[in-house]
Amino acid sequence: MRGLILSGGKGTRLRPLTFTNAKQLVPVANKPVLFYGIEALIQAGITDIGIVVGDTKDEIRGAVGDGAAWGCQVTYIEQEAPLGLAHAVLTAEQFLKDAPFVMYLGDNLIKNGITALVKEFRERGPNAQILLAHVPNPNQFGVAELEDGRVVRLVEKPKQPKSDLALVGVYMFDSHVFDAARAIQPSSRGELEITDAIQRLVDEGLRVEPHVVDGWWKDMGKVEDLLEANRLILETFEQRIEGTVDAESRLEGKVVVDKGAQVIGSVIRGPAIIGSGAVIDHAYVGPYTSVGSGVRIIHSEIEHSIVLEGSAVESINDRIESSLIGRNVRIYKQARKPRAWRFNIGDNSEVGVH
Ligand code: DAU
Repeated sequence: MRGLILSGGKGTRLRPLTFTNAKQLVPVANKPVLFYGIEALIQAGITDIGIVVGDTKDEIRGAVGDGAAWGCQVTYIEQEAPLGLAHAVLTAEQFLKDAPFVMYLGDNLIKNGITALVKEFRERGPNAQILLAHVPNPNQFGVAELEDGRVVRLVEKPKQPKSDLALVGVYMFDSHVFDAARAIQPSSRGELEITDAIQRLVDEGLRVEPHVVDGWWKDMGKVEDLLEANRLILETFEQRIEGTVDAESRLEGKVVVDKGAQVIGSVIRGPAIIGSGAVIDHAYVGPYTSVGSGVRIIHSEIEHSIVLEGSAVESINDRIESSLIGRNVRIYKQARKPRAWRFNIGDNSEVGVH
């Protein structure tokens, strides 16, 4: 069985981060979201993986390489434009050939992996297997209606959802999906929707089996989703200290301090991760915080946040929380008069002051 990871498209909802970076490469607990998907496929025994890429192909290629780091083989498949998930499947048809495959959306994270689900698909051999999850906001997803445990209808982002069962971004198909994808028309958002292709399989009387996932699942639609995914992943960590922590510092709970990181006169309350080469100096890092490599947190307090590599937070009096700080950002206290906030922030940023 082959794997297909979709990593094209635009990450407009994660702006401003996605101006410079593919949304699939935004780190959760200091690891790009996409890597969790690659690892989930490998764990399920799938090592021949195609990655669909678009405008951000160079970044994705640069981060993943040929897959050797994971012991898998990666083939890049270029999609001319983000014309929809079903269009991405058609673009990958040559690579996928006639064998059943797993399609994994590169911005999705599933707690329990997909190993058991792939096994179920292999054993039962339906034409398609879809994963569903109960969500509070179904209108932002593909939504499934079931009757007696069977899929009857699938609608992409309905205004008035008929159920709270969202389509999770992991699908398993046999080769019938290609004809179904060819038969559908673009949706009102101009995309060939995989949801419509699956509906077509249902309408043709083919076997589409639903599986409601237990355990959490997240897609990286918005910054809040990213913070929550970060929290959920950090919770699964165990304490691991590879950097240096001086006698004055206190680490509480599940804290990871990577190689080359320094913790000086500080309190770190887990779950939290401090990336390689980061410096935490007379600071407080609270629960659910991921501090990227080379970041400096000096005389400041931060919690429930993600700070990407190379950034610095220095001498900020108030605690920072629920924040997403991009790469090479500097937030610091200035002695210069008059006493004022001074911003130098890119487009589409958001700053909340009290
Ligand atoms: O996350 C689950 C949801 O994913 C499902 O509930 C929806 O039914 C499904 O349509 C999809 O919705 P989104 O609107 O969130 O999909 P998005 O545009 O974010 O694309 C998902 C991934 O696929 C993302 O990594 C980008 C990639 N992609 C997307 C498009 C449209 C491609 O590689 N090519 C494309 O043409």
